[in-house]
Amino acid sequence: MGIVLGIESSCDETAAALVTTDRRIVAQVIASQIEAHAPYGGVVPEIAARAHAEILTPIIRQVMAEGGVELRDLDAIAATAGPGLIGGVMVGLVSAKALAMASGVPLIAVNHLEGHALSPRLADPTLEFPYALLLVSGGHCQILRVEGVGQYRRLATTIDDALGEAFDKTAKLLGLGYPGGPAVERLAQSGDSKAVPLPRPLVGSGEPHFSFAGLKSAVMRAKDSGKYSDADIAASFQQAAIDCVIDRLRVSLDASEAMPALVVAGGVAANTAIRSALEDFAAQRSMAFVAPPMALCTDNAAMIAWAGAERLATGQSDPLDFAARPRWPL
Ligand code: KG4
Ligand code: ZN
Repeated sequence: MGIVLGIESSCDETAAALVTTDRRIVAQVIASQIEAHAPYGGVVPEIAARAHAEILTPIIRQVMAEGGVELRDLDAIAATAGPGLIGGVMVGLVSAKALAMASGVPLIAVNHLEGHALSPRLADPTLEFPYALLLVSGGHCQILRVEGVGQYRRLATTIDDALGEAFDKTAKLLGLGYPGGPAVERLAQSGDSKAVPLPRPLVGSGEPHFSFAGLKSAVMRAKDSGKYSDADIAASFQQAAIDCVIDRLRVSLDASEAMPALVVAGGVAANTAIRSALEDFAAQRSMAFVAPPMALCTDNAAMIAWAGAERLATGQSDPLDFAARPRWPL
């Protein structure tokens, strides 16, 4: 049994976690910067980088103390090396390199998307490769075929906004604040999802991509028309988004070899209406539906430590001069 320190700093969460190779989360600390960014209606890269730099070392100290672990006890130090806001990624990766250099423990430079892709296996030891992963958050919107550690096939991606971004922009248009997803979902509960005619971009197209820019513009027009209640707009937007996700999944999965399970990850996985639509879709296709606990779906360091543990098990580590990558497709 080994133990891995994970570090995550690619967006607006500063996090560290200790995870064992037999799937135990020994300790984890996560600090959200939501309050620092809320006045601006979105994440401001400079503010994020500075906040990561200020808080990461205390967070790593805290997680090591809570786990009762010394640096020399570690089997690997895993840090997000991209993709993400480069200032934040560099803060986490440089810290990991310094600790690795000082202790002689191997460094594992983790692709943040690989962290999301493998996290369901941390929560569910029975989840075998291959599986279909719908990754939907503020920054990501992809369907992946996860075939093994380091073996990912991207079946679909967005040509403009991510799904969480579309929720956040809709929330902004309706004056609901940031982050908007949970607020839109709450308001949608009291609205009529058929009240506002909204487009379903790309639905019916054979190309397995997402697009939400046209939906956002239509939401803006609906709001400006003054004809609809905010609740009806929120409910109709959410339904349009669900219809897009299900159609895009159908096209992507039809084009791929059958997979026994559908997994959802990313912050949007918190949305109960989307979850239940996915559950129905999976049942129709005789697929198991797996939704990891929310704390593992949103950005966290346990998933980075776990991806490190999976990579370590296959004998991989990275050189200390590994460069941070703002873009890094899986
Ligand atoms: O994974 P996450 O915490 O951070 C990244 O973006 O990587 O995801 C946050 C995103 C935000 O866009 C937020 O509005 C969205 O997930 N979100 C939701 C819900 N909860 C969070 N979207 C729709 N419904 C929700 N209940
Ligand atoms: Zn993420």
